[in-house]
Amino acid sequence: MRALFSRSSLVARRGASRRMYSREAPAATSAEVAHGASPGGYRSFGSFHSENVEEMIESACQPSWAAPEVPPAVAAAFVRHEDPVSYGAPMRQADFLLSSAWTFLNHGAFGSPCRASYDAAAAWRLHAELQPLAFIDRSLFAHIVESQRQLAAVVGASPRDLALLPNATSALSVAISAACDAADVREGDEILLLDVGYGSVSKMAARECKRRGASMVTLPLLSDLPSSAEPEALLGRFQEAVGTRTKVAIFDHVTSNTAMQLPVSELAATCRARGVVSVVDGAHSLGCTRSLDVQAVGADYFCGNLHKWLCNVRGSGFLVLRPNDSKLRSATEPLVASHGYGGGFTSDFIWQGASDYSPWLAVPSCLEWWRSVGGIDRAVERNHALLVGACELLAAEWQTQPLLSAGSSLSMALVELPLPRRDARGNSRVYASRDGKEMQDALFHRNIECPVKTVNGRLYARISAAVYNELDEYERLAHAVQAITLRGMQ
Ligand SMILES: Cc1ncc(COP(=O)(O)O)c(C=O)c1O
Repeated sequence: MRALFSRSSLVARRGASRRMYSREAPAATSAEVAHGASPGGYRSFGSFHSENVEEMIESACQPSWAAPEVPPAVAAAFVRHEDPVSYGAPMRQADFLLSSAWTFLNHGAFGSPCRASYDAAAAWRLHAELQPLAFIDRSLFAHIVESQRQLAAVVGASPRDLALLPNATSALSVAISAACDAADVREGDEILLLDVGYGSVSKMAARECKRRGASMVTLPLLSDLPSSAEPEALLGRFQEAVGTRTKVAIFDHVTSNTAMQLPVSELAATCRARGVVSVVDGAHSLGCTRSLDVQAVGADYFCGNLHKWLCNVRGSGFLVLRPNDSKLRSATEPLVASHGYGGGFTSDFIWQGASDYSPWLAVPSCLEWWRSVGGIDRAVERNHALLVGACELLAAEWQTQPLLSAGSSLSMALVELPLPRRDARGNSRVYASRDGKEMQDALFHRNIECPVKTVNGRLYARISAAVYNELDEYERLAHAVQAITLRGMQ
């Protein structure tokens, strides 16, 4: 195989990186001195031969920043279509890896990477192995900074306030712990959550409470959805729930089990006004809500992932800090302390030990793919329109009601399954999660991937509408559920 990383390209890349962010070698900062760098010696932390990471991120905030040259093999991995690809089956065929054997209506769980991102990550992985030291030691950080810069522009943040992480779980773990430090949560204090929040997030909060002698207060919304999720109603109940002991509040932008969009800007503003540190779980935000702008949301911490609705490869998430708050910034520590620890926000997070950084490096290719297919917002609108059509179709077939978040642009919704509401004696029937599992398994055995959620004793299909889905897939789901219920799931 031809070497992808030739000696001449190394020289060119070194030249490019010098042009990129360094002019004269500036004096070492106190952070660098503290971490072993010295004038004329290592410019980054540890023994990396890379340029200084904090200077790089500052350069990346300037219009004069010149992005590092992408290895030819990564650039070559990007396939441009001669004609624009239509959403639905053509896009699935051209731009996704999903097997044609499946009706795949669960994009909301773990996403599905677009081919452009998958191929770019594979090309980066190969590129890294051609000369691991040259790559990791001398050029990796500049490429990560470029990914940070491009992602920051898409979510409305400054690159200096954004850290890349492996997933939303890591980002939320960092943010919840940091929020508790910033708010100085102690014995007797409270962390406020919503009962529609994600399961692992309440475990993260419980861990912080255990460590600090604090308690968790959970605001109940589930029992009267969807009205409880409407902005005014939710805001009123949230404001009542914030008490004098509330120090941190955690809420979702889009809920997982119930597919509701919550008024995060209003909730964050309440927190600000009441001196409560806010954390947004935005695992479904980017690519499932209209024009995400984390600064406009105004929370102290905004956490998300890139593998769900952005269709990047798995292993990529992000955390954004509210800008210009030194207390938040100094409270925000990585889960893993490594060489960059203590050198600044970007230094803290950019290196988490030897690992596969290709999911972060694939971000620019993923964003380029989105531009090539008309942009994220266009897809959000199209997916929402498909979702509305799918809800109407299923509700008509099943003679049930959808639970569709009012006024939202979401690509996920719940539709109640056509199951008897009463048992043989006429008593009202309460379904449990094992019933949901039975139905989901029965669909799975028909090659249909669609989660079944149990909400207030009723079963719902949580449908996703991704760029590669089409209306006839929901028709298949409708008929499969009818066949399963006829065969005995009563
Ligand atoms: C609301 C919500 N929060 C957090 C997560 C965790 O995301 P990740 O798998 O990226 O850690 C999920 C994943 O489904 C989710 O739906």
